[in-house]
Amino acid sequence: MPLGLSASEFSGDAPDTPSQAFPDPALIARMANAFFQASPTPAGADPGVQDPGVPLAPPSPSMIPAPDPTATIAPFAPANPLVGPPDMPPSTIPSIAPTPNLTLPHAPSFSALPGGYGEPPLPGASAGAIGAPFHLGETAQLVPEAHRASPGGLNADAPYFIGETAFARAPAASTPSPTAPDPVSVSSPAAPASGGSPESVAPQNLAPKASYSFLELDLRPLAAPTRGAVGFPLDPETIKRDFPILNERVNGGKRLVWLDNAATTQKPIQVIERISDFYKHENSNIHRAAHALAARATDAYEAAREKVRRFLNAPSARDIVFVRGATEGINFVAQSWGRANVGEGDEILVTHLEHHANIVPWQQLCAQTGAKLRVAPVDDDGQVDLAAFEKLLGPKTKIAAFTQVSNALGTVTPVEEMTALAHRHGACVLVDGAQSVSHMPVDVQAIGCDFFVFSGHKVFGPTGIGAVYGRDSVLEKTPPWQGGGNMIADVTFERTLFNPPPERFEAGTGNIADAVGLGAALDYVEQLGMANIAAYEHGLLEYATAKMLAAPGLRMIGTAKEKASVLSFVLDGKDTQEIGKALDAEGIAVRSGHHCAQPILRRFGLETTVRPSLAFYNTCEDVDLLVEVLHRLARR
Ligand code: ALA
Repeated sequence: MPLGLSASEFSGDAPDTPSQAFPDPALIARMANAFFQASPTPAGADPGVQDPGVPLAPPSPSMIPAPDPTATIAPFAPANPLVGPPDMPPSTIPSIAPTPNLTLPHAPSFSALPGGYGEPPLPGASAGAIGAPFHLGETAQLVPEAHRASPGGLNADAPYFIGETAFARAPAASTPSPTAPDPVSVSSPAAPASGGSPESVAPQNLAPKASYSFLELDLRPLAAPTRGAVGFPLDPETIKRDFPILNERVNGGKRLVWLDNAATTQKPIQVIERISDFYKHENSNIHRAAHALAARATDAYEAAREKVRRFLNAPSARDIVFVRGATEGINFVAQSWGRANVGEGDEILVTHLEHHANIVPWQQLCAQTGAKLRVAPVDDDGQVDLAAFEKLLGPKTKIAAFTQVSNALGTVTPVEEMTALAHRHGACVLVDGAQSVSHMPVDVQAIGCDFFVFSGHKVFGPTGIGAVYGRDSVLEKTPPWQGGGNMIADVTFERTLFNPPPERFEAGTGNIADAVGLGAALDYVEQLGMANIAAYEHGLLEYATAKMLAAPGLRMIGTAKEKASVLSFVLDGKDTQEIGKALDAEGIAVRSGHHCAQPILRRFGLETTVRPSLAFYNTCEDVDLLVEVLHRLARR
């Protein structure tokens, strides 16, 4: 064991035996607080100079600062936080969408679509892993020289399990040929296809192997599943059979029509079974302990990280940090990267479209640092005014944070252009992908952003799990956010050495099972093909828009040229809650309210709208039912 640690000290969260007695618990608490305030040695700093935040000798009591609640507790945001008012005052737009007498369109039809989702996974291929736990080059800022020089490298025998080697998997007999895509969906619940996710194997196919690999690095990236490799029209009726909840009957036997996909998406059987299989066959804590289930669980978790990498086309799985969801991802960036890089007088640029999750964390950071929030306006269609966005960028702008798809209006923003503009002014870029990832292919390298966040539950995965992509050069210089197990390379009472990304940002036991479930969800959508999904939904959105606009008195809120999924509207003389209830009575689930995006609704003079939102399992029939009820309501 490295550093003279015992196995129990090394493996995880076993209680440490203090090498020195500190009888005063208050003193210990103050010291611990002082240590965890440690910031990494800045890049370029002389490594010979001891980082005061990583002391090698215990501090004497006189060195320890008096407890300062503001050092450990985020200051309470004042009633009037230090943020500027939106640059564009709310204005009232009486009607932005005419209600023309349109000829109703035919149901969308689909021709061959572009493909290109790579080769099939190698049978039994390792999912790869994030690599050796401690890359000394990466930890150089955080690990003192003395430890870097330790024989074999720091923690060279760390109990990591690499590669998905824990299961011998039965061959996937019915895996469709990549050259002959099956023009149906992934599987039906009655007959789950073994050609689905490489991990979605029936329990009887899970046979534990006799031995488990330690540090057998296998960094082969996972290829995407093959179903969506060649463009093919989606068959939503077949796809629906993968979603057991869509068979539910509600409100006196009405067929459930799920049009609340912007709030959350439903889960295919492949995801449900994957999570269930995890608990039946793999459940263990990860990255610690030398037993069979720890190997299985670690492999499954790291395979999920690789699937997120593949889904976002990130360069490395080390760039992927698991979080609870997009909201936690933005809070993580604001409180880790933000507190290290944003100071008094600096500026943070968002757009008027943002969800509260991409406003409030920045307001909190402004209140903590004295920075100022700037807001780029949108036009009357709900499109970002790019000229105004650019004008708001300047040398003070430290970060521009914007959504890729507005949850309230459905606007698709030109993220690549906005990123390039922000970078031209030296600003870091965070893209909120919560509403985009389920509707279009996302490529973080093509966007060029520094951070990208999304939630698993919005892309047919479980709640409570999501991911942050961070550019490696940015993550490396980002200090830890939360302290605890897993994120550390070594802890003594004198100092703590942090792991490199991504573990540095994953303190404690994460949401392992749901990360694995998220991996299954990403397999599922990639089997359908994100380009196929985008094309299908585009047709359905056009169909729904035209039909809805024919309802008397209906005003569509959000008429951008580029839209995805969302059909926000109000109906003359009708309360949005009343409309929501009337739709619910017919089995149609939509959200009515402010959609956690009050500023953009107020931009259009509204407090609430009704918001149907589409996914690939929705059909023209679903839309027809919605429109029929709206017509009925409008006539009433
Ligand atoms: N952000 C989610 C929505 O738009 C909850 O409904």
